[in-house]
Amino acid sequence: METLPFDGMDCWEPGERLLIVDDSRSVLSLMTVALGQLPGVEIDACLTWNAAWNKCLSNQYDALIVDYLLPEGDGISLVRQLRERENYRGIPIVMVTSALDRETRFEALTAGVNDFLTKPFDSFELQARIANLLALRRAQVQLARHAADLRDAVIRATREIALREEEMIWRLALAVEMRDGATGDHVSRVAEISRTIARGLGLHEHLCQMIYLAAPLHDIGKIGVSDAILAKPGRLSAEEMREMRRHVDYGTRILDNGASDLVKVAATIVGGHHEKWDGSGYPAGLAGDAIPIEARIVAVADVFDALCSERPYKRAWPMDKAVTEILSGSGSHFDPACVDIFWRTLPEISSIMVRRQPAMQFAGNGGPAGDVGADGVDPSPSPDQASNSKRAMR
Ligand SMILES: [Fe+2]
Repeated sequence: METLPFDGMDCWEPGERLLIVDDSRSVLSLMTVALGQLPGVEIDACLTWNAAWNKCLSNQYDALIVDYLLPEGDGISLVRQLRERENYRGIPIVMVTSALDRETRFEALTAGVNDFLTKPFDSFELQARIANLLALRRAQVQLARHAADLRDAVIRATREIALREEEMIWRLALAVEMRDGATGDHVSRVAEISRTIARGLGLHEHLCQMIYLAAPLHDIGKIGVSDAILAKPGRLSAEEMREMRRHVDYGTRILDNGASDLVKVAATIVGGHHEKWDGSGYPAGLAGDAIPIEARIVAVADVFDALCSERPYKRAWPMDKAVTEILSGSGSHFDPACVDIFWRTLPEISSIMVRRQPAMQFAGNGGPAGDVGADGVDPSPSPDQASNSKRAMR
């Protein structure tokens, strides 16, 4: 039998599987011998439609040779059904036939046959055809593998960039907070509480994550405020308060015209986190929905955590007092919808506070039944809590 010189071909990869389906044992034998000359090709053979179908279900072949006439069904229906399966959509299939009219050939091509081989077949031509189809299949597999590798590399690189961006934000936020005499826990808690409220409001998860990452920058403008004002233990004068409030403008300038979604969301939060629902906030005196939702959310988280935190000018409030303060600000200082979610998610917010600041627990009844935490440390609110409340939000 004449054969092609396949031995020693550099590009040949062993391990490809070929299925031959023909109702003639002698044809199967001839094909198996001829195609057995192809190095590294594993050959399966079967006689019937059902046997072929079952083999394809339990094995992954790289090419098929299918007779047009088969017991239990015709070759075209076998090809058509195989093409409906994801793993056989791109597999080369050759149809073997004695003679097919133009219409039947068209039907076979439409069903997914790639090529035809006419009986009686020439072994040399059979080898060449199948070798070419397997080479095509090999190229398809390598291309798909390469595309998958590239896709993975892009995903890895994108994740690395996002992590780097996130790390820089946290470090920047920590630097700002250290100037304010804190340790970074405040921005961490504000970030987590803000995300909890955002999710409770049903915002898209991407926006929730943006709010989580951008919230730590809400006071970035304090970089521009003098230490004397930031760390002043007593009451600020009117001029000092005006300067303190400029941290919003400083922050807006720092983040203005950002290119990334994250910086844009951060700029929105910075610019609006001291606005109030009733329009009495600053810097623009915006009211209601005119205040971006990201800023309305962070306003609740920021004030709540500030009330619960010790500052140079105030002692930490017990958490239940801070909760009461937030609830009482619904519709005046805060967006009622945000306060409603704050209240509904209080167990989760409570666990954030405890996890991030272990000594802090609820002093009494503050949240939904039974979920707000155990009796705990009451750091004894200072006598002038009312005025400190204003200072906590400065
Ligand atoms: Fe602020």
